[in-house]
Amino acid sequence: MRLQCISCRAEYEPDPWLFRCPRCGGLLEVMYEDIDPAPTQGHGVWRFRNALPPVGRMISLGEGNTPLIKLEVPRRRDVYLKFEGANPTGSFKDRGMAVAVSIALDAGAKAVLAASTGNTSSSAAAYAARAGLRSIIVLPRGRVAKGKLFQAMLHGASIVEVEGSFDEALRAVIEYIEGEKGLVYPVNSFNQWRLEGQKTLAYEAAAELGDAPDYVIVPVGNAGNISAIWKGFKELYQAGVTSKLPVMIGVQARGASPLATMTERGLREPAWFDKPETVATAIRIGRPINWQRALEAVRESGGTFISVSDDEILEAQKTLARKEGIGVEPASAAPYAGLLRLDAKIPKDSTILLVATGHALKDPGIRVETEIQLAVTITDAIKFIKKIAISV
Ligand code: F0G
Repeated sequence: MRLQCISCRAEYEPDPWLFRCPRCGGLLEVMYEDIDPAPTQGHGVWRFRNALPPVGRMISLGEGNTPLIKLEVPRRRDVYLKFEGANPTGSFKDRGMAVAVSIALDAGAKAVLAASTGNTSSSAAAYAARAGLRSIIVLPRGRVAKGKLFQAMLHGASIVEVEGSFDEALRAVIEYIEGEKGLVYPVNSFNQWRLEGQKTLAYEAAAELGDAPDYVIVPVGNAGNISAIWKGFKELYQAGVTSKLPVMIGVQARGASPLATMTERGLREPAWFDKPETVATAIRIGRPINWQRALEAVRESGGTFISVSDDEILEAQKTLARKEGIGVEPASAAPYAGLLRLDAKIPKDSTILLVATGHALKDPGIRVETEIQLAVTITDAIKFIKKIAISV
């Protein structure tokens, strides 16, 4: 196993504390001499231990193995949704955190540290608790969905709030880590070990579908997950497990769409958003740290980045909930909104995989219109039921 710089391709010995190339500053990727992507006996993502970094103690809460659900509504189309909301803390972050927290133990850390729009904080706090570590979380003040904040607090995280967006919170983490190493281990997605855990989504989906899908549509915030999933599919293809590579589509929310805007305008660098704004708080990120990895994933795969409006996101969330029975948080509905937007451009016989990253309960603050009738007596209640029953 080696670490390779994603920019200058320089190679380094594995080091739990190395996150940037000492030569050019680029982020790093984990490379293996030899991997076996077949699942083994075991717990959570560690079923794929022969394609993951070796660790002293495999921390797990049984993450992964999430439902792959074929959608009913897009007729004449094979659209599957990987419901990552079914992970132990309700998001895909658990796949990565199982690995990152195990590495933190090997690295001799006493605590983990993460900036977060919410889900990373829930997951880091839970996995740290499991490993007997403390967790320190940096959050954009007043901008994190209630369910996520509750989880971080429940699992005993120490919370630091900053004025500003996630990007400022992440800056605090990065500057801290540059100054001090050894005690507190960063588990944001610039941590290449964490992304190794997240690639197992590709392993599971390919096994369930019998091959790689033709398209994978992923919501993009800090741009780690799309990169990890692409790495997984590449490894499967190189190992001869799958016959093809998917086209990767990254979906951003319009008000936080540095990569989609870059693509639309044909720019060479992301169009940074200083004040990202969207109802999909999970992906309210203006400066995705993994933008180079994600750009490579999208380019190599022949895919693209697109953006969708908040209205499209909320409409997609509602459709998934009311027509498919699948409850996801707004960011996780973005791929479905993206699919509707791209529908005409995707050949009808393609197999499409939507990555639904987080559970609906994460964000109970979303306004949904529904009819509620207040019955004062039981007789009233029966009257209302009868009235509704006539209309079904
Ligand atoms: N979907 C959900 C539900 C998320 O929580 C996130 C990221 C993403 C998509 C985007 O993934 O950052 O790898 O591109 N949430 C992070 C957090 C930033 O702090 O919880 P990405």
